[in-house]
Amino acid sequence: MNIGCSEAVGQLPGKRLFSVPLLVEIYAIDGNIFRLKINEVSPLKSRYEVPDVLIKEPTMQRLSIAQKEAGILVLTCANEDCKIHITANPFQIELESKGETVLSVNTNGLLYFEHLQPPPQNSKTTAQKKEDASIDSSQENQEDLGLWQEEFGSFLDIKANGPSSIGLDFSLHGCEHVYGIPEHAETLLLKKTSDDDAYRLFNLDVYGHKIHDKMGIYGSVPFLLAHKPNRTSGIFWLNSSETLVEINTKAVMEHVPSRSPPDITKQRVVPQTDVRWMSESGIIDVFLLMGPTPFDIFKQYAQLTGTQALPPLFSLGYHQCRWNYEDEQDVKTVDTGFDEHDIPYDVIWLDIEHTEDKRYFTWDKKKFQHPKRMQELLKRKKRKLVVIIDPHIKVDPMYALYSQAKKKGYFVKNRKGQDFEGICWPGSSSYLDFTNPEVREWYADQFAFKSYKGSTDILFVWNDMNEPSVFKGAELTMQRDAVHHGNWEHREVHNLYGFYQQMATAEGLIKRSGGQKRPFVLTRSFFAGSQKYGAVWTGDNVAEWSYLKISIPMLLTISIAGISFCGADVGGFIGDPEPELLVRWYQAGAYQPFFRGHANIESKRREPWLFGDENTRIIREAIRERYTLLPYLYSLFYRAHTTAEPVMRPLWVEFPKEQETFGVEDEYMLGNALLVHPVIEQEATTVNVLLPGSDEVWYDFRRFRRLDYPGTLKIPVTLESIPVFQRGGSVVPLKTTVGRSTEWMTDISYELRVALDSKDFAVGELYLDDGHSFQYLHKKQFLHRKFTFHKNVFSSSCADEIGQYHTKCVVERVLILGVEKQPTSVTVSLQGKRDGKDKEVVFTYDAKTSMLTLEKLLLNVGADWEIHIK
Ligand code: NOJ
Repeated sequence: MNIGCSEAVGQLPGKRLFSVPLLVEIYAIDGNIFRLKINEVSPLKSRYEVPDVLIKEPTMQRLSIAQKEAGILVLTCANEDCKIHITANPFQIELESKGETVLSVNTNGLLYFEHLQPPPQNSKTTAQKKEDASIDSSQENQEDLGLWQEEFGSFLDIKANGPSSIGLDFSLHGCEHVYGIPEHAETLLLKKTSDDDAYRLFNLDVYGHKIHDKMGIYGSVPFLLAHKPNRTSGIFWLNSSETLVEINTKAVMEHVPSRSPPDITKQRVVPQTDVRWMSESGIIDVFLLMGPTPFDIFKQYAQLTGTQALPPLFSLGYHQCRWNYEDEQDVKTVDTGFDEHDIPYDVIWLDIEHTEDKRYFTWDKKKFQHPKRMQELLKRKKRKLVVIIDPHIKVDPMYALYSQAKKKGYFVKNRKGQDFEGICWPGSSSYLDFTNPEVREWYADQFAFKSYKGSTDILFVWNDMNEPSVFKGAELTMQRDAVHHGNWEHREVHNLYGFYQQMATAEGLIKRSGGQKRPFVLTRSFFAGSQKYGAVWTGDNVAEWSYLKISIPMLLTISIAGISFCGADVGGFIGDPEPELLVRWYQAGAYQPFFRGHANIESKRREPWLFGDENTRIIREAIRERYTLLPYLYSLFYRAHTTAEPVMRPLWVEFPKEQETFGVEDEYMLGNALLVHPVIEQEATTVNVLLPGSDEVWYDFRRFRRLDYPGTLKIPVTLESIPVFQRGGSVVPLKTTVGRSTEWMTDISYELRVALDSKDFAVGELYLDDGHSFQYLHKKQFLHRKFTFHKNVFSSSCADEIGQYHTKCVVERVLILGVEKQPTSVTVSLQGKRDGKDKEVVFTYDAKTSMLTLEKLLLNVGADWEIHIK
C-alpha cells in the first residue's frame, strides 16, 4: 500500500535548502512479513534496486484501513492478528502482533535519504581537473565537489550520481539479544556499537582478519535477528552497497495497564534494542519478519531468499586441501596416504598453482600433464577433485577466455569506459561482470566438458577472491566508480559480486551434467541468498586457538542467516598449528557442516598423519566419527533444504525460553538432537557444558551415560574427547562403520541411537536418496523415514509417502538409552508381513548406563516395522 509521502531535505550547490518528496510503500506479505520501500517519488535517474536475490515477487496480502484521521493511519492484515500504526508527523511506523508492539520504524528519527541531484554545474571533478592540469581552487567549488568525489589514500572515487546514501532506524521492543549480519570475526551476540564502531557489511579480502572486529570481511548478509523469550523477529535490509549497522540496547519505561484499581497505569522497565542501518546507495527496501518462533523466522527469510541447496553427499565428507598440491604425483601420494592410514576422505583440492600462470580453466602443462588420468584414478577410488576458479582473468590476448570476454565486452569497465584492470594473482587482470545475465550464461558454458579441457564429472569448483579482491585497489577491492552492466556503478552491486559468480558456477556445473547432477561450489564471498548455490567458508583464518574459538560463533551467525553449508579451514590457514591445536580443530570440524583441512603455501605440510601415531589415531577417530554421522547430517541438510532449519544452530534456537542460552557461543546444537561443545582451550582437562532445559534429559553421545541434572556440568576431557550430548527424546541415525569415502558407504548398515526423554518417548528421522542427482526432486526418488519410541514400542514408518527409493540397506543395530529396567523379551514385527510371527531379537542390557542394545536386526531401512520391548 502506498501510504503517502515523506520528505528528504537536501541542499543544492546554490546552497538553497529544499525538500523532495519520498514515496513510502508498505506491504503485508503472506507468512507474517512486512515490506517497507522508500524511494524518491521521481528521482533524476532510477536508483538501484537489488535484483536476483528474492526468489520470487512476494505474495501480497490485503491491508484494510482501520482508522484514518489527520496524520494517523491504522491498517490491519486480513488473516494475521497484525496492525500497522503510521503517524505522519513525526513519520513513524509501529508493527503490532497479537496486541504486542514488536517493532517500530524511525523511532529515533534517523530516516535520511540523499536524493539524486544534478552534478555541480560548470565545474569539473578533481580528477578531470588533474587530468586537465588546470586546478581551480575556489572554495565553494571544492565544497560542492566534496559530495561528488572522495579520496581514499591515493584513490579517488568519483561518484557518478553524487551523494546517494540512505538510512533508517528500527526499535525492537523488549529485546536485548540480537544476532546475525555476517560476516564478522565477532561474537554470536551482536554488541552495542559506539560512534565509529558500527558493524560494517562490505565484502573485503582480509588476510588473517582480526578477531573481535566489526570490519567487513568476505561476505555480507544484511539480515538481523532479534530474540526475546516469547518472540523472535528479523530485519532484512535488501541493499548490496556498503552498509553500516549501529546497535544500541537500552532500558525503557513501558506502560502496563493495571486492573486494580482500574484506569491506573503502572510502569515497568523493559529492554529495547535500536538498530540503525545506513547504506551508501540504492533505495530503502526492508523486510520486517515477525516470527514469532525462531523457526518461523528461518522460514520467513527462506521464503524471500530461498533455502540451502541440497549438497551432493560427497561434499559432506572430509575435504583435503592445501595451497598447493604440487603435481599429479603429489595428489596420488596424498590420496594413497589416506588409504594407508585408514582415514576416510572424499575430496582433494587444487589451489591456484595447478593452472598455467593463474589462467583459470587451464592446467600447468608440466605439473598436471594428464589431468583426466589423475581424475580417473580418483574416480576409481570413488573420490572427487575440486579446483579453484577465481573471477579475475589474466590480461593476455593469447588466453582464449580473456580474448573472448574482451571481444564480447564482458568485463567490468572503469569510469572511462575501458575494461577495468587491476592486479591479482596472474598480475594484470580484468574482472568478469557477473551481474550481466549474458556473462553468467557464457561463463556457465565454460564448464562444459568440451570447453573446459581436462575436466571430468568428478571435478567441482571453488570460487575464491570474489569480493572481488584487487591487489593495490582501495581496501584491496574494486573501485566503487567502476561500471557494470546496465551502467550501474560498482558501489551499488559490490556485495553481490561473489554471489553472482557462485550462481554462474553452480549453473555451469548443472548444465554440463545435462541438468542431472547437483553441483558443489564453495565461495568465499557471499550475500543473502548464496545458500541456493552451495557452500561458504570463513576465509584466511590463523592457526591459533583464538581462531578455532571464534569459528563457532562465526559459523553460527552464518547459519542463522540462511547459509547452512559453512565451515572454517581446519588447522587454521595461516601459520603452523601445534599438534594439539590441529587435533582439536579436526574434532571441532568433524561436527561442523563443511569440513575441510586447508593450509597456506608457506605453511608446513599437515596431512593428518604427519604428527605422530597418537595424533594420527585421534584425528582418524574424529574423521571416522564424521563419517558415521553422515546419515544424520544429510537428513539435517534435507531439512535445511526443505524447511529452512539451520543445520548448526545456537542453543537459543532450540531453547528459546531459556535465557541462560541466549549468549552461549562455545557450544551449539547440530540439528535438534546433538549438543556439541568442542574443546577449544589448550591443555584442557575439563569443559563446562551447559545442558539446557529443566525438563530435559541428556546423554553422553559416546559413553551413553545419562546426565540427569541439566545445568552447567564440568566434564572431564582427554585429548580424545569430543564432548557431544544427545538430547532425550531424539533418534539419531548413524552408519555402523565407515568406508574410504562416502561412495564406499552406500550399503553400510545403519545404527539408530534412541535417547529417551523423561516420558520414555523419542522421535527422529532419516532422509536418504542417491546422494548426487536431482531425482529426489523430479522423480521423488527418496526415502524419508520416521522413527518413534512410544510406550515401549520402537517403530519405523514413512515420513513422506510421496518419496520412493529402493535400497538394500538395513538397520542393523538399535541402541536405546535411558531404559530403566532390563526387558524380559524383545520382538520385532514387520508391517505388511502378517504371518503372525514376531521374531525374537537378541539383546543386551547394561544396567550401569541403562542402555539396551539390539543387534543383528537386518531390518530394511525403507520398510515399516515395530520392535516391542517387554
Ligand atoms: C585466498 C584463499 O582464502 C585461500 O584459501 C587460498 O588458498 C588462496 N587465496 C590462494 O588461492
